[in-house]
Amino acid sequence: MNLTPCKPPDICQILDAMPDAVAVIDTDFNVRQVNAAFTVLSGIEKHEATGKKCYDVFPGHVCNTPECPLTRIKNGEGPVRYEGDKHYARRRSSPGIITASPYFNEDGVLGGIIEVVSDAGPLYESRERFRKAMGGVIQAMSLTIEKRDTYTACHQRRVTKLCRAIAREFGFSWEQTQGLRMAAAIHDLGKILVPAAILNKSGDLSEHELAIIRAHPQAAYDILKDIDFPWPLAQAIYQHHERMNGSGYPRGLQGDAILFEARIIAVADVFDAITCFRSYRPAVGFDAAMEELMKNRGVLYDADVVDACDRVIRSGTVNFGIPEKNGRKA
Ligand SMILES: [Fe+2]
Repeated sequence: MNLTPCKPPDICQILDAMPDAVAVIDTDFNVRQVNAAFTVLSGIEKHEATGKKCYDVFPGHVCNTPECPLTRIKNGEGPVRYEGDKHYARRRSSPGIITASPYFNEDGVLGGIIEVVSDAGPLYESRERFRKAMGGVIQAMSLTIEKRDTYTACHQRRVTKLCRAIAREFGFSWEQTQGLRMAAAIHDLGKILVPAAILNKSGDLSEHELAIIRAHPQAAYDILKDIDFPWPLAQAIYQHHERMNGSGYPRGLQGDAILFEARIIAVADVFDAITCFRSYRPAVGFDAAMEELMKNRGVLYDADVVDACDRVIRSGTVNFGIPEKNGRKA
């Protein structure tokens, strides 16, 4: 067979054929080359980008920091991959996955990096779908509890509201807040295994009945422990009856050994349990509930969390949907 050798495409043609935006940057941060996809993504023509400094053409949050991929590669690292937004002179790109790979000159000296920006849109969409599905599962669990035990369902909703407000006091990120909210929303999931007669009993509980109620964090943990949540959901729920001085259950954990999320749920849980009317005792006012928390501040409950709860309650910003005994609504 007689094959005519074809002329290999030049480097520009190869780069232009790539669907991802590509920029070639030398070790002095000069943009040496960009491809057609780069122009589509950034709105910057090739001649406008080449010869300019990369941090002027597409500044990003890692520019001029030790995290800059070119700096990292100059310091001896291999290819660097990270997620982030690239900011272009004319438009802000969608989130991208950026891979920076070193290239070497003929003499083996580092020539610079080749940055490839892949569109992370589909990845973000699938993450978003996953998050929504996760929220749906949590809600389904919460509704399952509601069908059986309305008090617990309402209690979990109020605790979730209070937890979210406390999280705000600590400057939790959106991601952390989501994890805490989901844990709070089903923190008493394990009570589905406690007979209703025991849950609603108005008289004193026997040792045996108390043991059954006290098994609810373990029961929830057993249900959730194998689900790979992006948050420490099962652990936070497992530990919500632990107390700072080790007097809690099921494991008698102390202080920092208790997850911070669990310490927040514990305070919100106690606050709501005290302020709520139950068949076997009347509701208590917010002030009395805060008094109880303050009395055991740093002993049973995390001192900072109690303080944050106090600020939240004083601000009156959380709507629990129940009238407050002292005339205040919260
Ligand atoms: Fe509980």
